[in-house]
Amino acid sequence: MTFKRRHLLSLEELDAAEMMKILETSKVFREVLDRPIKKVAPLRGLTVANLFFEPSTRTRVSFELAEKRLSADTVTFTAATSSVKKGETLKDTVRNLEAMKIDMVVIRHSSSGVPYFLTRFCSSSVINAGDGQHEHPTQGLLDMYTIWMKYKKIKGLRVVLMGDAKHSRVLRSNVWGLTKLGASVAVCGPSTLLPVGLENMGVEVYTDIDKALDGADVVNVMRIQLERQQAGLLPSLREYTSLFGITKDRLKRLNKNYTIMHPGPINRGLEMADDIADCDQSVILEQVTNGVAVRMAVLYLLAGGEGRKTDED
Ligand code: CP
Repeated sequence: MTFKRRHLLSLEELDAAEMMKILETSKVFREVLDRPIKKVAPLRGLTVANLFFEPSTRTRVSFELAEKRLSADTVTFTAATSSVKKGETLKDTVRNLEAMKIDMVVIRHSSSGVPYFLTRFCSSSVINAGDGQHEHPTQGLLDMYTIWMKYKKIKGLRVVLMGDAKHSRVLRSNVWGLTKLGASVAVCGPSTLLPVGLENMGVEVYTDIDKALDGADVVNVMRIQLERQQAGLLPSLREYTSLFGITKDRLKRLNKNYTIMHPGPINRGLEMADDIADCDQSVILEQVTNGVAVRMAVLYLLAGGEGRKTDED
């Protein structure tokens, strides 16, 4: 299939064939990352602006590396050191960057919907790098890629998404992506962190961790978003760990060839015990490596893939 989109805003709007196209393309770029010279040229001549209005380690560096590996020119903008601090609006900021002839915008923002807002006036391709509590599509794709690489399939696997479903954009992207590719998805967390209508997204919903983990292949543990918690949603962090923390004992309920995932950053000792994060079944750092390949695939496809026209053509 030909990938025809100009923007990547959510996994809700992608169909299964589009997601598989991204995963298949990621496989090619994943091989590039293992070469002595980890650089190819398909984005030569393009300029990508990374706009981060919220803190990030993995996503920001991963996008920057993906762009450099594809030979794009890149600039990274963090709100804390910009004229946003002097009161400049988001729209003016982006229009000024576009006036400097950029081609693609990667944006992370604390407000849901900001990437959509940008598409109303931007002529660049817009990539959502995490918007508020809405979606984090490239994280969802890299999680799916990591599962696909290990099991050689996604359809039929039982995946449990643990934790803060109310605030987690990663969880929402995982739900849209995994259900469309045929996984059986369960979401588990305290009832105060389970948003209304979750069942309508095609997932099983649990407040009992032991029942949720029974017979699961993959557990993807969401971070408790301490910065987004409102008073009263969690009685105490100690109680959360005791009722929902991933421990060795609880892992006995999983299928034999199980996998532990976490999008990072981890609150060690809160959502999972320290030894779980670093155990043999943990693919947390593999997720990070795969993230660069997946973001290379997204940038490449949005730029037109093999059909991209350059001045040299
Ligand atoms: N997984 C993730 O989005 O991590 P960062 O916040 O460090 O980018």
